[in-house]
Amino acid sequence: RAVAILKEFEEKCRTPSSKLKQVADALAVEMHAGLASDGGSKLKMLISYVDNLPTGSCLERMVKVSREKNCDEKGMFYALDLGGTNFRVLRVHLGGKEGRVVKQEFEEVSIPPYLMTGSSDELFDYIASALAKFVATESDSLHVSPGRQRELGFTFSFPVKQTLISSGTLVKWTKGFTVEDTVGEDVVAELTKAMERVGLDMRVAALVNDTVGTLAGGRYNDPDVVAAVILGTGTNAAYVERAHAIPKWHGLLPKSEEMVINMEWGNFHSSHFPLTEYDQELDAGSLNPGEQIFEKMISGMYLGEVVRRVLCKMAEEAAIFGDTVPPKLKTPFILRTPNMSAMHHDTSLDLKVVATNLRDIFEISNTSLKLRKLIVELCDVVATRGARLSAAGIAGIIKKLGRDTVKDGEKQRSVVALDGGLYEHYTKFRTCMENTLRELLGEEVFRNIAVEHSNDGSGIGAALLAASHSQYIEVEE
Ligand code: BG6
Ligand code: GLC
Repeated sequence: RAVAILKEFEEKCRTPSSKLKQVADALAVEMHAGLASDGGSKLKMLISYVDNLPTGSCLERMVKVSREKNCDEKGMFYALDLGGTNFRVLRVHLGGKEGRVVKQEFEEVSIPPYLMTGSSDELFDYIASALAKFVATESDSLHVSPGRQRELGFTFSFPVKQTLISSGTLVKWTKGFTVEDTVGEDVVAELTKAMERVGLDMRVAALVNDTVGTLAGGRYNDPDVVAAVILGTGTNAAYVERAHAIPKWHGLLPKSEEMVINMEWGNFHSSHFPLTEYDQELDAGSLNPGEQIFEKMISGMYLGEVVRRVLCKMAEEAAIFGDTVPPKLKTPFILRTPNMSAMHHDTSLDLKVVATNLRDIFEISNTSLKLRKLIVELCDVVATRGARLSAAGIAGIIKKLGRDTVKDGEKQRSVVALDGGLYEHYTKFRTCMENTLRELLGEEVFRNIAVEHSNDGSGIGAALLAASHSQYIEVEE
């Protein structure tokens, strides 16, 4: 019976190329709709107000200008990264001949769960205090020049509606956050007020999504970066769009005629999705029912939970763990994706890692090897579906950019910067995603595509964007 449950689930999760191509096509269609008007699609296609991505030469110019103005020639900027597993504060020193990053320091702080569902003031006070503590560790040799205000790039990994690079209102929370009184508020104002409360004098020069930060950080290292994807607790993508392809944007065309778009692809929905009863139940019991359906099939916050739900059904209907369902198995989100990944990658003959995880997480012991094998297979089904869908998402962006065909043997490189814990640590997920992208795009197109890990790109990217929007810089026209 357990095998039958698995087979039925596997069948519903199937993602043959033909289905994934439909998903990719549907994504490209929704991208057009989201760019045409606000509310035109489930894809918000948020305008980031980043129209000029940092490159070595832009920062070289910036450092030069700042020297002439007798400012801190090292150019020190802060970044704050909220929305991944941990919240991070960073200090980035720019300098040298080309304005490259010469030094970076960071600290990681975890957000206590009660703050993720509490009040806005409490959350932002916590963040501001951690930042103030970090600022206090500035050394004598590396600090901002006297009289100069510290500046910050704020990576805030949630959907935000911006009208300026340096402010934006929260559309809704996603992932594990639900701090009701922040919704509709300007998150930069919230942070600035909290910084004032803790006595920290700092200006938020740029507010960016993690995908936008990763794109900026990636582009700084490689001029061929056209998109960035996060596969972590949540999932999302940003890419560089031509300004004239954004009808809903009534602003002046930027000089570069390009604009970075934060897609918020986690909320993508298509009738071609391989959804199952477990996904429906997971969604119904989630903090945001009916929303982020793409994210709920792909990202790290949810993969382990899907596995747990299937195991629960097997325990109830096939008594795989004995006559009663082990109580811990009924606890939502108790199986985290890193544990699922550990079981999935178990190469020991007797599947020891699976046994240990079952014991430690669910207090289940004495499982047969056959059952452990079944669990590994289940992890494979869930991870494969997520990885293949994320590849379809990337293929959809490549299509929207018109880079899904090779014209006259041209060799235009397109690089996609990737980051996030799922991509970084879940090897089978990552390999499957990359292989699927090749399968969907075809060998010839794939030769011109590179997927690059942009390690901590979003923090550095936010600091770079703060630098290029510094109040002390007059960017030469
Ligand atoms: C990090 C990025 O590496 O990945 C963050 O710098 C991003 O900005 C994060 O939010 C997402 O990963 P996770 O797994 O921590 O959610
Ligand atoms: C969620 C957020 C999005 C973020 C992504 C990855 O989908 O809504 O803004 O980019 O997670 O962190």
